[in-house]
Amino acid sequence: MAISLKINGENYSVDAEPDTPLLWAIRDHVEMTGTKFGCGIASCGACTVHLNGEAVRSCVMQIGSIGDQEITTIEGLDSREVKAIQAAWDELAVVQCGYCQSGQIMSATALLKKNPTPNDADIDTALSGNICRCATYTRIRNAVKYASHTISVKEI
Ligand code: FES
Ligand code: FES
Repeated sequence: MAISLKINGENYSVDAEPDTPLLWAIRDHVEMTGTKFGCGIASCGACTVHLNGEAVRSCVMQIGSIGDQEITTIEGLDSREVKAIQAAWDELAVVQCGYCQSGQIMSATALLKKNPTPNDADIDTALSGNICRCATYTRIRNAVKYASHTISVKEI
């Protein structure tokens, strides 16, 4: 059946069953492949997208439950938070293999949007569901703080 999804500001009609995971709709139907499959059971964070600005695991979200809520993928991020995050990721050379990183960035940008000046505990809590097999956690935490500082300085 046809299910409407609003992804990155565009409307898509996806021909799939209502219990299809959002991740499959994004990757296989809409063909945006920046969102990754890791575990399929909401345990790794590789599939993180935003639903109305909240970081959610798309591998366990059924497309029939979404309605007209706004879905944002890594391809659609466009905000001062993501620009600061991208610059910080570059500056601190965060990425190793890269597989987890779109999920990490989705969680980090959702955090900075809600809390522009997170402390270590805030960062660890917000990103605790994002696993990195390359163990880039320290660089990620430093980069989130770097991005937070960049945003604060620009606001002065
Ligand atoms: S693939 Fe969704 S949390 Fe791992
Ligand atoms: S950078 Fe390799 S899994 Fe995170």
